[in-house]
Amino acid sequence: MKVVLFNGSPRKEGNTYRCLKVVMNQLEAADIECEYVWFGMEKLRGCRACYQCRQNKNKKCSITDDKMNEFIEKIISADGIILGSPTYFANVSTNTKALIERAGMVCRVNDNLLKRKVGAAVVAARRGGAAHVFSSINYFFLIAEMIVVGSSYWNMGIGKDPGDVEKDTEGIETFVNLGKNLAYVLQKLKN
Ligand SMILES: Cc1cc2nc3c(=O)[nH]c(=O)nc-3n(C[C@H](O)[C@H](O)[C@H](O)COP(=O)(O)O)c2cc1C
Repeated sequence: MKVVLFNGSPRKEGNTYRCLKVVMNQLEAADIECEYVWFGMEKLRGCRACYQCRQNKNKKCSITDDKMNEFIEKIISADGIILGSPTYFANVSTNTKALIERAGMVCRVNDNLLKRKVGAAVVAARRGGAAHVFSSINYFFLIAEMIVVGSSYWNMGIGKDPGDVEKDTEGIETFVNLGKNLAYVLQKLKN
């Protein structure tokens, strides 16, 4: 069992990172292997609609001058995918969107490689719009036939400056419970 946790925030150790760490701690406490990937400052662009991936069916994106194919390989080899994003104008960050578009299309045209993988969104926001980010990530997971795991609240943490989210007691509790629920589902699926 392996889970890859992606952080699409340009801030290396901001609030999205801290929320993801809470989830990761719970997974590791349940002996689930985790890989953390910060991709928020990578130079990535969105899908260019060339549909080469549909023709080639080689599990790769035809844009090769960035790290997206490395990320796609990590996604394909994982049992669980956690996608973390800050809220930017009530939406996902640009890099999170690029990952959704390109990894999403490559997996979709290769017989739905994400099917039955376990997934969860992790969202940080200062005040508003996190529910929309949560929905955007879940739309991606759900059209890919993934198994989306929930928590005791929608998966969002509230905070502006790096570390502020740690004062959001309910948010942190939500991520603790999310980690526990993910571990539960992953272990059930293994048996
Ligand atoms: C370009 C930009 C747009 C933002 N838009 C929103 C927003 O729509 N709603 C909100 O609550 N916070 C917004 N924020 C604040 C961040 O979501 C918030 O600081 C969050 O904790 C950042 O997570 P991070 O530390 O992982 O980057 C915005 C920040 C930036 C830089």
